[in-house]
Amino acid sequence: MTMSKLMSTQEVADYLNVDRKTVLRYLQSGRLQGSKLGREYRIPEDAVRQLVQPASSDRTGEATVIALANQKGGVAKSTSVFNLAAALHRLGHSVLMIDMDPQASLSITAGIDVGRLKTSIYNLLIETGLNPKDAILKTLAGPDIIPSTIDLSGAELELDRQFRPAEVLKAVIADIRPDYDFILIDCPPSLGNLTLNGLAAADEVIIPIQCEFLATRGLALLLKTVEKIKQRINRSIRVTWILPTMYHERTVHAREVLEELQANFPGQVFSPPIKHTVKVKESPAAGMSILDYDPEGDVALAYMALAKEVSGDA
Ligand SMILES: Nc1ncnc2c1ncn2[C@@H]1O[C@H](COP(=O)(O)OP(=O)(O)OP(=O)(O)O)[C@@H](O)[C@H]1O
Ligand SMILES: [Mg+2]
Repeated sequence: MTMSKLMSTQEVADYLNVDRKTVLRYLQSGRLQGSKLGREYRIPEDAVRQLVQPASSDRTGEATVIALANQKGGVAKSTSVFNLAAALHRLGHSVLMIDMDPQASLSITAGIDVGRLKTSIYNLLIETGLNPKDAILKTLAGPDIIPSTIDLSGAELELDRQFRPAEVLKAVIADIRPDYDFILIDCPPSLGNLTLNGLAAADEVIIPIQCEFLATRGLALLLKTVEKIKQRINRSIRVTWILPTMYHERTVHAREVLEELQANFPGQVFSPPIKHTVKVKESPAAGMSILDYDPEGDVALAYMALAKEVSGDA
C-alpha cells in the first residue's frame, strides 16, 4: 500500500483554487478528511482528489439543513436567514426558509401577509396528517418559505406533550428535504423547544453575533446545548460559522470584540463581518433582500461570500 502524500490547508487551497477558509470549512464539516497537527491540518492528497473528482459528487440529493441560532435577541438571525437564503438562491440553489419564531419577523421581512395564513409552521408542528408542502409559499426574493404566525408561541408548551418534543420539526421536514439544496431555519431568541427543534433538525449551525459589549454572553450555554443535541439526538450537527453582524468598522470597540471572537474561535469566525448599515433596515420595508436593495454594498457582498462558503461554491 502506498502512502498518500500529505498536504497543508494552504496547499489544498492553491490546488483547488479556493480560499483557505473554504478548505477549513470542508475539514470542519468532515467532507474532507484530515488530521490535526498542532494548529495545522495534514490532508492526504487522495482525499482531496476524491473530493473534486466528479464535480457534483457532494450533492446527496438531500438538502443541507442550516439553523441560525442565538438565544440573544436582535443579533440579526432573521436578517441573516433572509439574505443568506437570497444569496444561495442567486448562486442557483433551491432554498427553503423556515420561520420558527412566533414574532414572524422572517415571514414579514419576506413579504408574507401573516394575518391571512391558513397553514403555518405551527400547524405542521402541532397537527397530524398535514402535508408540509401545503404550507410552503414563494417569496419575491427567490427562496420558498414556511412562515410562522403568533400562534407559534403556544407551541413551546404544546410540543412538550408530543412524542420526542425536540424532534418534531425534523420529522416534519423529512419528506421535503429532497426538494431543496438548502433549508435555512430561523430560530427565536430563546433556548426553548422551538430552538431545540431547529437545532435537532439541522446539519449545520450558524451563530450570528453582534459586534458589541457582552456579545458572547450566553454563547457558552448555546454551544453546550448544541453539544447535548449532538450527543443525544443528532450526531451530525456541527457549528460551522460564527457570523459577526452589525459591525461598526470605524469604532475601536467593534474591532476589539471581533478580534476577541477570532482569538477564541480560530477559523470559525466568518470574514468579512456583516457591517452595520441603515440599508439593511430599509431593505425589508422595500420588500427586498439586501442583494436586490444594495447589490454592490459591503453587506450584500458579505452575504454572497457567506453563501459561497456555505455551498462550497467559493
Ligand atoms: N447589518 C445590519 N445593519 C443594520 N441593522 C441591521 C443589520 N442586520 C440586522 N439589522 C437590524 O437589527 C434588528 C434585529 O435584526 P433581526 O430581527 O434580524 O435580529 P434577530 O436576531 O432575528 O432578532 P430576534 O432575536 O428578535 O429574532 C432589525 O431591526 C434589523 O433590521
Ligand atoms: Mg429573528
